[in-house]
Amino acid sequence: MPETTAKSRVFVTRTLPGSGLDRLRAEFDLEVWAEPGLPPREALLAAAAKADGLLCLLSDRIDSELLRRAPRLRALSSCSVGLDHVDLAAATARRIPVGHTPGVLTDTTAELVISLLLAAARRVVEADRFVREGRWREWSPDLLLGRDLAGSTLGVIGLGAIGQAVAQRAGALGMRVLGWNRTPRLIDGLACVTLPELLAGSDFVSVHVALTPETRGLLDAAALARMRPGAVLVNVARGGIVDETALAEALARGRLAGAALDVFEHEPLPPSSPLLAAPNLVLTPHIGSASVRTRTRMADLAALNLRAGLRGERMPHCANPEVYES
Ligand code: GLV
Repeated sequence: MPETTAKSRVFVTRTLPGSGLDRLRAEFDLEVWAEPGLPPREALLAAAAKADGLLCLLSDRIDSELLRRAPRLRALSSCSVGLDHVDLAAATARRIPVGHTPGVLTDTTAELVISLLLAAARRVVEADRFVREGRWREWSPDLLLGRDLAGSTLGVIGLGAIGQAVAQRAGALGMRVLGWNRTPRLIDGLACVTLPELLAGSDFVSVHVALTPETRGLLDAAALARMRPGAVLVNVARGGIVDETALAEALARGRLAGAALDVFEHEPLPPSSPLLAAPNLVLTPHIGSASVRTRTRMADLAALNLRAGLRGERMPHCANPEVYES
């Protein structure tokens, strides 16, 4: 009789679309959090304490405390491109590979940016409310006038894959594009400038940097004050990059004509947030990658990353590849 070896234990913090979890189940001892909502902190810590592998979402805090309390953990995979919820340094110190899902969500996220730019520029949400509230009495030449994207300048902060995909689409819409990246990049169809130049020279600004200690508060009150009067800000990257109180004030004063936010300092957005009372602001609930196809691809990739990590193979997308160096 062949000797039976215990299967590696995997905890998944939320059921995911596609067949990735079934493939993991065939190979590992899989526990999927089945109750509604996220696992509460204590449940996450208890599950991680017994796990060899963890498949998490961007809303799960994978910090040094969790890693300390998970002595068996050998592979961590997040079903997200962003990893600001993971203490990457602590995982690397333990030589735990951390997987994430870049690439598969680029187009979907760029499409949300374009839809938010258009919604903010053409006041689509406000117009919908106007009709529903029975305020539409007549066609009028000055009703709900907005701004044109064509002929305007878009500033793209962060020129990774998503920033570049947004720049490309903006060019197709007839926009001039300025870009800023911490390490300047040469990209066709785009003028790379300093951040103050971008803020002062753009009619629309879209944020595409990861949230790191360096980018936290990048768009603070001083940076927002550098934007063109009447400009529009879009953020689908991470909440902590934009100072929400300063943005709400800039909108209330009419300094900025509008904004659209998909991400927030605290998610879900607390009812006390000043953003909820700010005018000309479109709010969406962190849906940058939310298409059926993309969420399935993200789940599949997250499962592949975890499987490779647990087998001691290189993850297809590993955020800390230095763990593979001997
Ligand atoms: C979404 O925000 C992601 O990081 O995947």
